[in-house]
Amino acid sequence: MADPLVSVASLLAPAFERVAGRPGVDPVVRPSDRAHAQANGALPLAKELGRNPRDVANDVVAAADLAGVAELEVAGPGFINVTFSPAFVAAQLATVAAEAHVGVQSAATPEVAVVDYSAPNVAKEMHVGHLRTTLIGDALVRMLDFVGHTVIRENHIGDWGTPFGMLIEHVVDLGGELGEIDLTDPGAFYKQARAKFDASDEFKERARARVALLQSRTDPATMDLWQRLVDQSADYFDVVYGRLGVLLTRDDIVGESYYQPMMPAMLDRLDRAGLLQESDGAKVVWVPGFKNREGEPLPLIVQARTGGFNYATSDITCVIDRVERLHATLLVYCIGTPQSQHLQMVWKAAEMLGVLVPPARAVHVNNGNVLGEDRKILKSRSGEPAMLLDLVDAAIARGRAIVAERSPELAEAERDELGRQIGIGALKYAELSTDRIKDYVFDWDRMLSFEGNTAPYLQYAHARIRSIFRRAEVEPASVRSVVPSLDAPEELALALKLLAFDGAVAETLEKFATHRLCTYLFELAQTFTSFYDACPVTRAETDELRTSRLALADLTARVLSTGLGLLGIESPDRM
Ligand code: ARG
Repeated sequence: MADPLVSVASLLAPAFERVAGRPGVDPVVRPSDRAHAQANGALPLAKELGRNPRDVANDVVAAADLAGVAELEVAGPGFINVTFSPAFVAAQLATVAAEAHVGVQSAATPEVAVVDYSAPNVAKEMHVGHLRTTLIGDALVRMLDFVGHTVIRENHIGDWGTPFGMLIEHVVDLGGELGEIDLTDPGAFYKQARAKFDASDEFKERARARVALLQSRTDPATMDLWQRLVDQSADYFDVVYGRLGVLLTRDDIVGESYYQPMMPAMLDRLDRAGLLQESDGAKVVWVPGFKNREGEPLPLIVQARTGGFNYATSDITCVIDRVERLHATLLVYCIGTPQSQHLQMVWKAAEMLGVLVPPARAVHVNNGNVLGEDRKILKSRSGEPAMLLDLVDAAIARGRAIVAERSPELAEAERDELGRQIGIGALKYAELSTDRIKDYVFDWDRMLSFEGNTAPYLQYAHARIRSIFRRAEVEPASVRSVVPSLDAPEELALALKLLAFDGAVAETLEKFATHRLCTYLFELAQTFTSFYDACPVTRAETDELRTSRLALADLTARVLSTGLGLLGIESPDRM
């Protein structure tokens, strides 16, 4: 760990333990306004020992050996103020600057992680709800991969079930021709099929017969029609993913249909484990701890009275597949909050089956709603396009309008590219910088602003540093082995912030909370501004100081672009 706060904590721990007379005492090191950092651990320890906290703090300072790393001083009721040696911090910084991952450490135990995200439904349009899970999942995929896990993306699309009867019959009526998908209204086909289904008993009958054929998987013509429907939707999803710049492609699709053939065996397994019960003619698993609205125990239905399988059946089978076929130990589900109970019940059933047991575990990376200005769930009716592709296109158009105004001197192709990077960046960052559990109000002006905690602000901070190098005619790579001098407080503050990148990524992954990384990047950009205001770079007093400050600037740009990259956001070199 290159972060000096972490180094100090591990150097202080033995001193705390000696004073405590027991192992495992946390020095509680935090950033501080009064010094570079402070250790607050003497306060709880004094309580434990029934002693005066200042005395305890003094004993810890006397017992600690931080020569060459930091100076310690007891302050207030018993805090230990930490002032780092600039040479120590500079050496850490030089190590980090030499690394491609700019200080981010690999995971201690690399795992196989399956990330389930996006998961739209065939023959339906993708709506803003899918935007959230798509962007959150994609950022987590990038981060888990960056720290060395083996990441498997899975797009658990809704590609099976009763609606396919009417959809297939509608294709049959059209002479087997699906035609091109209407990207302005990808759900149109579904609506037409639905209208027929509601209006005609004859059509309804055919649809029912078709579902039975589909479920038997024995009729090649039916399977072919179904496959064409799925393929056409996959084309549409690929357009959305491509324009949005997320990693998902059709190769990542592992939809509900994939699990159908394995379900009877799964039910057998439940049965053999004594977990399969009858309730009102249906097959259920009694998962302890879940109650319905009336307070009665709530069963997980895995086979309907009619013999049909459902969402829970496919999700239990899916857990088995991820653990036993893919050997995943970390199962990440990026899905909206309303599906929480469903997931908890499915996981509990998989646990009772002995499948989802340590080290394998599942996490629900849930998310709230996107709201319109009226604070209601964003719908096309509330004025803004709620269809995902329209929203993506609107973001690109707005990004381009901003670039046309700010940088009319650029060639048209450059303006288009930059506008796309800004628009998509803004859309992604607005999502990723808010606490995913909360609802957030969709606000173009805020997300595209060059001020505040936004993508354009961070992209601009990065591009500005790159322009410093262009003006100074210095190759960034040429300052990468420089050990900077950190005599000015703003230099040292920037250095400490840069060294906190590793911790920010770790914290983000620990909570699956992308907004933590965003907050870090925003603070880094602000810390850089304070440094740049106080310390002349290209006009530094000496050549040595100029090189040293250029090295700080370069590392800032690299951490910014690496961090934005982990969020799936591009960092243009000029803006
Ligand atoms: N298709 C579902 C939806 O649109 C989401 C599926 C999420 N993944 C899962 N394993 N259940 O709501």
